[in-house]
Amino acid sequence: MRVILFTGKGGVGKTTAAAATAALVARRGRKALVLSTDPAHSLADAFGVPLGPEPCEVDTGLAAMEVDTQLRFEHSWRDVQGYLLDLLARGGVDGLQAEEMVVLPGAAEVLALLEVRDQVAAGRWDAVIVDCAPTAETLRLLALPEALSWYIERVFPTHRRMVRSLRPVLGRLAGGLGGAALPPDGVLDAVTRLHGELGEVRGLLADPAMTSVRLVLTPESVVVAEARRTLTHLSLYGYRVDSVLANRVVPAPAAAVPAGRRAEPDPWRAAWAASQAEQLAVVRESFAGIPVRRAAYRPAEPVGLPALLDLARELYGHDDPVAVPAPAELVGVERDGEEYVLRVSLPFADRSAVSAARSGDELVLTVGARRRLLTLPSGLRRCTVAGAEFADGTLRVRFRPDPQLWPGGPQG
Ligand SMILES: Nc1ncnc2c1ncn2[C@@H]1O[C@H](COP(=O)(O)OP(=O)(O)OP(=O)(O)O)[C@@H](O)[C@H]1O
Ligand SMILES: [Mg+2]
Repeated sequence: MRVILFTGKGGVGKTTAAAATAALVARRGRKALVLSTDPAHSLADAFGVPLGPEPCEVDTGLAAMEVDTQLRFEHSWRDVQGYLLDLLARGGVDGLQAEEMVVLPGAAEVLALLEVRDQVAAGRWDAVIVDCAPTAETLRLLALPEALSWYIERVFPTHRRMVRSLRPVLGRLAGGLGGAALPPDGVLDAVTRLHGELGEVRGLLADPAMTSVRLVLTPESVVVAEARRTLTHLSLYGYRVDSVLANRVVPAPAAAVPAGRRAEPDPWRAAWAASQAEQLAVVRESFAGIPVRRAAYRPAEPVGLPALLDLARELYGHDDPVAVPAPAELVGVERDGEEYVLRVSLPFADRSAVSAARSGDELVLTVGARRRLLTLPSGLRRCTVAGAEFADGTLRVRFRPDPQLWPGGPQG
């Protein structure tokens, strides 16, 4: 069972590549589901057939679906949202303003990922291929399961039983505040459920044996620059990028001329081919160690199964389109004398933009405006941070055993 997420800048060919990959998986005899979590669906356009929010068979062994993100959102969040709205209303916040305040940006896309979990749990597919929203959205969406559960854990106590036993006391206190401070059981149930579900999604997506990400790009400098940033952020959140798909590669003029005919000079095309060749070199350099696959710019939109299969065959050749890539360690701990070194790989991150701070049992990693909370392995929790450095795309944080927390040190 494999889950593959397709991401990249807007319009580079994510939907096309995801649909093509799933189509080839099915043609080679395995069961594949391709689903899109982008609220602006275009999977149906790629296949050239209508699709809905349930798996719909488009070829033998191949199903496709477009997740109803709004419905999933309302299903999971409605109770909580209702409670928060009520609370704000009692606090005198105007209805419209309150509506604005309880909208969690990107939450709809995150909740759409619950569908991925459900489809994985259903056990009907050998591969679940996910066509994600464009880069910024997807990043936020991928980060959210972690951020959201962190948030939930702090805003709402995880242990409902504790809340229930405190209810009489809190109820009396809250009485003085208008009785609105304590969430009703329904809300607590919804939050607890959501918390658990998001934890599962996160576990699924960050499991390198199960899930990997494919970065789709076109060989243009602006697109490549964004793909590099995406790789940094995906690494920050602990996601594995298994390959880069370079799409819409303009064939060099000579290659397109039938044998025996002279090439017509076509300076426009020659210029594009040359500039793309330059960018492809940057891509190979930038993503060293990650396979780069290519698909040529078609003379027409690759719409429908035959065109998608043709594109997939060009991308993958005889390779398995859902092969589990060799594990590349993103986070690791090694022993260095008396100390431990926690390594976090953050390719392309700018040294001045990286920072790390300890907060209790968590390490708060920041790259520019993005943040990740890394729960420390239990051994490191009994250590104090002795220093940190960032070089060659790797952050190294040194930990020293705290004699008060760990008498006798790691040997003891
Ligand atoms: N190799 C190709 N040759 C020619 N046209 C292509 C190729 N790949 C994709 N296209 C076309 O480019 C357009 C954008 O592709 P697609 O919808 O797959 O991109 P996307 O990254 O999913 O876009 P969005 O960010 O809007 O979701 C579509 O019209 C598609 O048919
Ligand atoms: Mg798309």
